[in-house]
Amino acid sequence: MASFSDALPMKDASPIKIVALISGNGSNLQAIIDAIAERGLNAKICAVISNIEQAYGLQRASKAGIPAVWIDHKKYSNREQFDQALIEAIDPYQPDLIVLAGFMRILTEPFVCHYQGRLINIHPSLLPRFRGLNTHQRVIEEGDSEHGASIHFVTPDLDGGPVIVQARISVEANDSAETLAQKVQQQEHKIYPQVVEWFCDNRIRLNQNKVYLDGNELHDRGYSPPI
Ligand code: GRF
Repeated sequence: MASFSDALPMKDASPIKIVALISGNGSNLQAIIDAIAERGLNAKICAVISNIEQAYGLQRASKAGIPAVWIDHKKYSNREQFDQALIEAIDPYQPDLIVLAGFMRILTEPFVCHYQGRLINIHPSLLPRFRGLNTHQRVIEEGDSEHGASIHFVTPDLDGGPVIVQARISVEANDSAETLAQKVQQQEHKIYPQVVEWFCDNRIRLNQNKVYLDGNELHDRGYSPPI
């Protein structure tokens, strides 16, 4: 009987091609760059694109020998035109995976659909809780006892795409938005390289808005690594 993995296209030994989109510090980008180098992941980051010229992540890219591209969203009169410029910058690399790593722009439906199944994002909350911005402060205000980060496929539903993995932290009485941000980022730097590795090994797949890891459907909250 054919298994799910039998139906997957055979991946040759060439590295998966990644394009990363960032707007800021790029610490998640750095975690992925380091994992590729240190753990020998079969991946190549072909380009890092930022909408912000001063994004430190662009310097991280250059330092790692990765083309660093700035596309100024302010030069475009609407989101559609900016996203089209992004597509024109990304597609020549023929990426297998587009990694949003702190990219602070809402992407239009045509962009998202163009990359369906190969566009992933990291969000600093346990989705579907706290979509949008200021998640750490909102966790404190709501008195949640746990918090975390989610990596999900991007769909036109903002922060609403199917979750691949979530990492949890407990919220302590003395936590602030700043301490939560630090704790969550520590987890992010573990799970984003992990998900990239799964893509490298052809273990992860989106099919009809459902996520499969090794052919097994991941339900609501994705895969939860041991704390
Ligand atoms: C991360 O906390 C991520 O969850 C959110 O933006 C932040 C980016 O941080 N989407 P960095 O630029 O990777 O340091």
